Amino acid sequence: MSYLETTHNVYKEAALTPDIGLCCTTNPIWELPGLKIPRIMQEMNYGCGSTVHARDLTNNPKMLYVGVGGGMELLQFSYFNRQEGGVIGIDVVDEMLAASRKNFIEAEEMNPWFRTNFVDLRKGDALNLPVENNSIDVAAQNCLFNIFKSDDLKKAIAEMYRVLKPHGRLVMSDPTCEQPMNNKLRNEERLRALCLSGSLPINEYVKALTDAGFGTIEIRARKPYRILDPKNYPTDELIYIESIEVAAIKDPMPKDGPCVFTGKAAIYYGDDDFFDDGVGHTLLKNQPLAICDKTASALKNLNRDDIYFSKSTFHYDGGGCC
Ligand SMILES: C[S@@+](CC[C@H](N)C(=O)[O-])C[C@H]1O[C@@H](n2cnc3c(N)ncnc32)[C@H](O)[C@@H]1O
Repeated sequence: MSYLETTHNVYKEAALTPDIGLCCTTNPIWELPGLKIPRIMQEMNYGCGSTVHARDLTNNPKMLYVGVGGGMELLQFSYFNRQEGGVIGIDVVDEMLAASRKNFIEAEEMNPWFRTNFVDLRKGDALNLPVENNSIDVAAQNCLFNIFKSDDLKKAIAEMYRVLKPHGRLVMSDPTCEQPMNNKLRNEERLRALCLSGSLPINEYVKALTDAGFGTIEIRARKPYRILDPKNYPTDELIYIESIEVAAIKDPMPKDGPCVFTGKAAIYYGDDDFFDDGVGHTLLKNQPLAICDKTASALKNLNRDDIYFSKSTFHYDGGGCC
């Protein structure tokens, strides 16, 4: 059996018998005015962060969600869209599609604004999406791509890139890990399927996105996720896993490389009212300007003693350079 089949079986089980501890999200399950989330959707929250950010969702975007789970985030996306077929939901596991379909009926009973036909559920594989080219404004996946091994991860990201419109965005949450993992952990199919042993360091995760052509990356959150300890897992050392929330935007790739925002800012505190670097960045005196990592390096290379650079917070929420 391949690791992909093991994954399908794990999520078939998780669809038939909801498993509250399956993925460990530290996110509160947020509700909005008039948005009620059925308990069963909360119990089937198999994500590790949130992919639903109000600022991505203006102007009734056409949305795609891959790996539906219990359907909670599709319901949250529908809240912002409220149109028939506004959110396409794709899953490869029949039982998960059936479970989420049932959960949407319950959601319709609890939410007067919601119709089950707002969600267009389709059977399909993240590695070969049944979706037209350049047709999606906002695509999302939560806690699925970390399961994929390198070649499949490339395919899954390329598929998302293909279906997004120019300037469309891919919003994701996945575990990441900065420590090396041994091959036993890496190849333990069930642990991988459970989102425990496939995670990459953040810079490799980001590189997989920029290699696919995404010109802008935003790291929006970084949080504690899990510990793999030697007593319970095949490892000699304690391994700390985090989760991140990331948006990859299908902007053209800049000539000098991608803009990756990790929450850095530059603050000019010189004698003038502002500093202009001559290539599009104006720093007003004593006002932090959010900058991407590329701009941070370029400005640092000027070796000025009147610009302060803050470190990456991994909490970027818009604005700034580029
Ligand atoms: C960890 S769960 C996450 C579910 C949901 N995103 C959430 O946050 O609750 C992974 C989901 O991806 C689905 N899945 C697994 N392999 C897939 C594939 N190759 N293509 C599409 N969906 C897949 C599973 O059935 C499951 O619904």
